[in-house]
Amino acid sequence: MTKIVIAILANAGGVGKSTLAAHLAYELAKKKVATGIVDLDSNCSLDILTGLEPVEIENSTIGLFRDDFTEWHLSVPPEWKVKNLMVCQSHLGMTDAEKTLAIKRRGQYILQKRLKSYPIDKGVIILDCPASLGIICENAIAAATHILIPIELEVKSINGSVKLLEWIEVVRADLELEPEPQILGVVPSIYNAGKAQQRQYLEQLPDLFNPLGVKIFPAIRDSVEFANASGYGLPLHEYRPKHPAIQDFKQLTQEIIKLTK
Ligand SMILES: Nc1ncnc2c1ncn2[C@@H]1O[C@H](COP(=O)(O)OP(=O)(O)OP(=O)(O)O)[C@@H](O)[C@H]1O
Ligand SMILES: [Mg+2]
Repeated sequence: MTKIVIAILANAGGVGKSTLAAHLAYELAKKKVATGIVDLDSNCSLDILTGLEPVEIENSTIGLFRDDFTEWHLSVPPEWKVKNLMVCQSHLGMTDAEKTLAIKRRGQYILQKRLKSYPIDKGVIILDCPASLGIICENAIAAATHILIPIELEVKSINGSVKLLEWIEVVRADLELEPEPQILGVVPSIYNAGKAQQRQYLEQLPDLFNPLGVKIFPAIRDSVEFANASGYGLPLHEYRPKHPAIQDFKQLTQEIIKLTK
């Protein structure tokens, strides 16, 4: 079993990155895979999704980017019934940290370096990235073995994901990464099958992504229960264990588990 690092990236806000990060992490941990989530977004969405109290700045992701970094500060999601899952929580101050990073020598490689001392040797680390494509996302690309791209089934998000793929290509080349992180695939998110337009976009995705060699995973359906579950700091699996949307994560989870073997 090896260490897989998955960066969840999209160049749009609110497309379901953090929801995907949290639910994927839950599924992996449930399958006994040692799993970590690193929240790289100053909006700290993972705190809400995991029901964790905010952390002090020095115990947050910001600490990773400091020169005086000594150790990882990890929280175990307290109310979840899974073991094997740890979260490195973010802090609002990430926006300032990002500015400092931009002027640091080799500022894009810091997370890559820190992950070498992450206390999981074998398993999966999920990087929940901010929507703005800057040096934090470049750090995530440099640290990742794989990249996962959630998209909403509307023009802005679909076009944005094609541009994102171009940007990733440029970053991968600029940073001269060896090995380069692979595009694991796109995950259509917040999918409402009752909307003809969304159905049509979903059908068209292979025409767009297959020529680029990018895999399309099963869509995650639109359900208000995702937001309701996060209101309790729980994954849907624990909030509504029989909810059909839980099935939507299965294939992706299996694929990731295969990578760890
Ligand atoms: N499958 C879904 N069905 C319905 N609502 C969803 C679904 N996935 C996410 N949401 C809701 O959409 C909103 C945005 O989701 P989320 O925070 O995961 O997106 P994000 O891409 O991480 O956003 P940001 O860029 O702001 O960090 C949240 O209110 C969340 O509950
Ligand atoms: Mg988010």
